[in-house]
Amino acid sequence: MSVQSNVEVHSEWGIVSARQAGRNLAKELGFAGVDQARITTAISELARNIYLYAEKGEIVLEGIEGKETGGAKRGLKIVAKDQGPGIKSIREVMEDGYTTSGGLGAGLPGVKRLMDEFDIDSVAGEGTEITTIKWLR
Ligand SMILES: Nc1ncnc2c1ncn2[C@@H]1O[C@H](COP(=O)(O)OP(=O)(O)OP(=O)(O)O)[C@@H](O)[C@H]1O
Ligand SMILES: [Mg+2]
Repeated sequence: MSVQSNVEVHSEWGIVSARQAGRNLAKELGFAGVDQARITTAISELARNIYLYAEKGEIVLEGIEGKETGGAKRGLKIVAKDQGPGIKSIREVMEDGYTTSGGLGAGLPGVKRLMDEFDIDSVAGEGTEITTIKWLR
């Protein structure tokens, strides 16, 4: 599968575009309405964090295939990457309520709950790459 789209995030518009691209791809891959909403919410939170903490970055959306017993499964992968300040303590940011901006601190823990797989790769001073996947059921 080679459906992939890259959306630059450096303004509120980028957040909106990333959401729309996510909804379109989720539909195309056959996700039901509730999962489409989960995916677009996850994209919003990740894009909003890029805009807020790193000023700019990119959301990459891709239809992927994974293996499961008895065949292949399809999914939607979101990669949110930026070259911002990075995250010092990944453990802390994954706690509900942890925020450095007076937000709710619900974004990243929320994304983890909404999606099936979630991974943060971040180096302080270099940037952040968050990868998360929703599998089609
Ligand atoms: N891309 C990023 N680069 C650097 N720091 C980040 C990034 N994304 C998140 N963080 C840090 O992680 C913290 C937690 O993020 P999270 O999205 O969970 O909450 P929030 O943005 O503070 O509030 P909310 O999303 O609920 O409005 C942020 O306050 C910020 O310090
Ligand atoms: Mg946030």
